[in-house]
Amino acid sequence: MAVDVIIGLQWGDEGKGKIVDYLAANYDIVARFQGGPNAGHTLKFDGKKFVLHTVPSGIFRPTLLNLIGNGVVINPTTLKKEIDGLKAANVDYKDRLLVSKKAHLIMPTHLLLDAASESAKGKSKIGSTLKGIGPTYMDKTGRNGLRMGDIFSPQFKAKYHSLRNKHLNLLRVFPPIDTKKLADLEQEWFSSLEELKELQFVDGEYYINNALKAGKKVLAEGAQGAMLDVDFGTYPFVTSSSTMTAGVCAGLGVAPSKIGEVIGITKAYCTRVGSGPFPTELDNEAGERLRTLGSEFGATTGRPRRCGWIDLPALKYAIMISGVTQICMTKIDILNDFEEISVATQYHYEGQVTETVPYDLATIPVTPIYETHKGWQVELDNVKDYNQFPQVAKDYIQALEEKLETPITFISTGPEREKLVIRS
Ligand code: GDP
Ligand code: IMO
Ligand code: MG
Repeated sequence: MAVDVIIGLQWGDEGKGKIVDYLAANYDIVARFQGGPNAGHTLKFDGKKFVLHTVPSGIFRPTLLNLIGNGVVINPTTLKKEIDGLKAANVDYKDRLLVSKKAHLIMPTHLLLDAASESAKGKSKIGSTLKGIGPTYMDKTGRNGLRMGDIFSPQFKAKYHSLRNKHLNLLRVFPPIDTKKLADLEQEWFSSLEELKELQFVDGEYYINNALKAGKKVLAEGAQGAMLDVDFGTYPFVTSSSTMTAGVCAGLGVAPSKIGEVIGITKAYCTRVGSGPFPTELDNEAGERLRTLGSEFGATTGRPRRCGWIDLPALKYAIMISGVTQICMTKIDILNDFEEISVATQYHYEGQVTETVPYDLATIPVTPIYETHKGWQVELDNVKDYNQFPQVAKDYIQALEEKLETPITFISTGPEREKLVIRS
């Protein structure tokens, strides 16, 4: 058995949560492999809406197991709040939510360091979600971090305090920030951690590999998106983890040979939240229209998302680095009323026309070259069968598919679970 993968192909918020929740019905295990509570994955079904940050999006499928893999960073306070939400919704999570002992812990002082680092950067700030992601991954790769498996050790508190004191010393190199709330944050953090001890802690790598050997079907759930990848995204305006398919191997402990289908998610247009380059951004009425119609406000921070047209050079890049085998296009319904839809096919860069994403995108801007398509101006929200799509919409999808050289097999026509058209 292989691990199938869902990843974002843009700058996050492509609708990964919705698609994982839908596809989870065909799997035995859903596993998150990177990121942390910077993610906000929205699920809508039976008239209810849930936003998940750390818990995998398979949790609402009654028999499915959900693993938080070693590549994820966990804030116990946030995870406990998510679990409280599951309890309130009568979701039986206890035997179905597993945590890798090797997942790292986000400490309250990581949040302070994130805030201090951002405020010191001033105008050049990353636009971090301020969830402590960067500082936690820094401690992981710096070999200082605390892991979930450590919480049962008698030395845990001593290790915590030693690292926390180091963080407080580090904070002195930044302009001063308010640390008054630290004691309260720490109290909540420790009490949340106590409650999380009811979860199942596993050696995630053995767990997944044994499951595969036993013929179980595994779906890996990505967070963020290709263009926020720490190596290949628009550095330094990226997150701190590997958001691509390779991240699945390191973040769950599965070999590259065990990777099966890779389903890349893209919106029918494009959004970005936070700072950094965004070649197709629309700072005009069309961008505002996309934001309003698409309700483009961050699921984690509530910040307005920057909006623009779909960017094929960036998508091709994402498909290349992650070996995407199928595409799922979401939010096509948001384009229903547009008379014309633009698609960036190339960039003008330093006097040249290029289809590649340049190394210095963050400092040397590119100008997109657009191709314009006629809009279909028909409601697609309730169309269940691809054959019933208007020809103009089919032409748009086919044109993109040809340019991306990858089949578009799923088309999402609304936020609800059932609003997904499967195209063979
Ligand atoms: P994720 O982080 O990739 O899981 O995406 P988010 O949940 O942050 O953002 C996607 C937003 O779009 C959420 O509000 C979803 O409910 C919504 N959504 C997902 N698919 C569709 C779709 O096909 N049409 C519309 N209108 N909304 C969608
Ligand atoms: P999901 O999983 C969209 C962005 C932040 C910021 C940059 C770094 O919901 O798609 P960080 O907090 O990671 O240090 O922030 O990355 N970012 C996201 N943008 N969706 C996300 O997750 C994101 N997670 C981080 O806005 O620009
Ligand atoms: Mg999101």
